[in-house]
Amino acid sequence: MIKTLYLPCYVLKFNSAKIEGHYLSKSKGTKMELTLTQPDDWHLHLRDGSLLDAVLPHSASHFGRAIVMPNLRPPVTTTSAAVAYRESITRALPASSNFTPLMTLYLTDSTKPDEIKLARQSGAVFAVKLYPAGATTNSQDGVTDLLGKCLPVLEEMVKQDIPLLVHGEVTDAAVDIFDREKVFIETVLQPLIHKLPQLKIVMEHITTSDAVRFVESSKEGFIAATVTPQHLLLNRNSIFQGGLQPHNYCLPVLKRETHRQAIVAAVTSGSKKFFLGTDSAPHEKRRKECPCGCAGIYNAPVALSLYAKVFEEAGALDKLEAFTSFNGPDFYGLPRNKSKITLKKNPWVVPESFSFAFGEIIPMFAGKTLEWQLLL
Ligand code: DOR
Ligand code: ZN
Repeated sequence: MIKTLYLPCYVLKFNSAKIEGHYLSKSKGTKMELTLTQPDDWHLHLRDGSLLDAVLPHSASHFGRAIVMPNLRPPVTTTSAAVAYRESITRALPASSNFTPLMTLYLTDSTKPDEIKLARQSGAVFAVKLYPAGATTNSQDGVTDLLGKCLPVLEEMVKQDIPLLVHGEVTDAAVDIFDREKVFIETVLQPLIHKLPQLKIVMEHITTSDAVRFVESSKEGFIAATVTPQHLLLNRNSIFQGGLQPHNYCLPVLKRETHRQAIVAAVTSGSKKFFLGTDSAPHEKRRKECPCGCAGIYNAPVALSLYAKVFEEAGALDKLEAFTSFNGPDFYGLPRNKSKITLKKNPWVVPESFSFAFGEIIPMFAGKTLEWQLLL
């Protein structure tokens, strides 16, 4: 018989006695279930064309909403392009899906304040994404000098209450790749919040203890961060373990173990400033396994299992639901989802690859066994 353990934020089911209170470890032969408010993904790359068709079902079956990144070719720089992109996502959705894409604009040196007004009026655009020019995939049209070139746009974003989502790395080739996030905080973010303290900022996919400290010491409700499964579970050794591992290469690049530990401590602390953003970034296998491989980890099919693993290993499963389902919508001023999902302790093997007419996509943790499985 399956019985249920009720906790403040979630429900665990055991096939043993009903217990109220805090999380108890699994005893032999039990199957735990974890019921959570439907999570959202606050940082997602859905691509377009056949790649969109291939990856969308994974995100749509796990998440209620997602903040969709605008780094297409050409980038989504206008509200009308964002609305058209939203339509192509909606058309590609499985018929029964309730998934809602939340669109973003790609900031350039020439974005005009009027575009921000249009974005707000559209009801389709929820944020503006800053890619420092040259920082990552399709960022060549990004910003060269944020405060020098974009101040009027940023001021309009404050007026329209639209957050700035930040790829937080400097692009100066003289700065060591492992230091680029820290230097970005010092040379771009600190001056930015000094100049515009009312601007809402999400530091995306944080990778360092420096970023954790920056977010923790900033004003709640104005500065927050998304955190990926890879930056919670892997350190930079994973890129080189037993030979070069292109499927563990993403940007910002994985950092040393002490940084990973600082990020785990931050998200499992219960702070409202950190929330789920997978940065799931699919590239065809042949674009990863080649002389100049693309940055990006495809984690949409495994992300929820991996976040549950992190929180369980930290003894903080009671904090998981706020991270996956509350902190993000609260920051964006959106309602929390009403529906629920269930994760079950039921070991499953991640597929080695997903095959499509155009080629293959290799997921994060391909071929590995994960404990928590989403009941679909
Ligand atoms: O690893 C990454 N891949 N980081 C990014 O910032 C972009 C993303 C992509 O679009 O492939
Ligand atoms: Zn991204």
